[in-house]
Amino acid sequence: MQIVDSLLGLRAQIRTWRAQQMSIAFVPTMGNLHQGHLSLVQRAQTIADKVVVSIFVNPLQFDDKADLQAYPRTLQQDIQQLSETDCDLLFTPPAELIYPKGMAAQTKVVVPGVDDKLCGKMRPGHFDGVATVVTKLFNLVQADMALFGEKDYQQLLLIRQLVEDLNVPIDIVAVPTCREQDGLAMSSRNHYLTEAEREIAPQLYQSLLNVAEQLRSGNTDWPAVQSAAVQQLASRGFKPEYLEICRAADLETAHPGTDTALRILLAARLGKARLIDNIACDLA
Ligand code: PAF
Repeated sequence: MQIVDSLLGLRAQIRTWRAQQMSIAFVPTMGNLHQGHLSLVQRAQTIADKVVVSIFVNPLQFDDKADLQAYPRTLQQDIQQLSETDCDLLFTPPAELIYPKGMAAQTKVVVPGVDDKLCGKMRPGHFDGVATVVTKLFNLVQADMALFGEKDYQQLLLIRQLVEDLNVPIDIVAVPTCREQDGLAMSSRNHYLTEAEREIAPQLYQSLLNVAEQLRSGNTDWPAVQSAAVQQLASRGFKPEYLEICRAADLETAHPGTDTALRILLAARLGKARLIDNIACDLA
């Protein structure tokens, strides 16, 4: 695996692959890789000739400075895992390459309609930071396709929308959430959990499954289903931020009798960790 941290190095390799008619898949990450990231790399290998992974902890998408500072940085371990997964090129740009004039002077990409809901509402500016860095990384890497996990479902829809709205010539490929054996969605933030918190964390997934089950069995009082689930999580020690039943296509509030392709999403704090998860629920 090649490791490059300069635009020159990146472009030289991309040019060579392009001259050889090779297709390129891109997996952007913030490092601290786990099986969820590696499943994106593995999927990428099945759909393209070459796989590029980036590791960049993007300061622009952190609404909380302490969260940015505490974010786990495990480059050596990440390199080891990527070499074992046969990644072709790891791009580790320094902040000066991504934000040469600093973050305040950076042109931003703003995708409308995300700031007022779900994680956008809870983390002001977060999705502008994601949209901006992803657009920059797409332009730097110039891959044919990019892969994103469904665990960050709102992020996935945001990226699909920015690609469509800005006519970015790249295909977005969604990869299902990787879960631990007890159902907990894999996340770099799981490291923040104490042993006791780790034991109760899978209840988030259980609660999504319970909500889906109630919807499938015909309960049409969705607001009541939502608030019962939120109360149950709170009684077990979580600090729920939201649990919502949305239309899968655009994350607008879903309504019984009208909407059938649903996504149930939640975010909750548990100790120092802010955890998110979501599942599909098809009522058709
Ligand atoms: O999902 C992530 O890890 C980040 O939001 C991303 C897409 C790499 C942008 O920094």
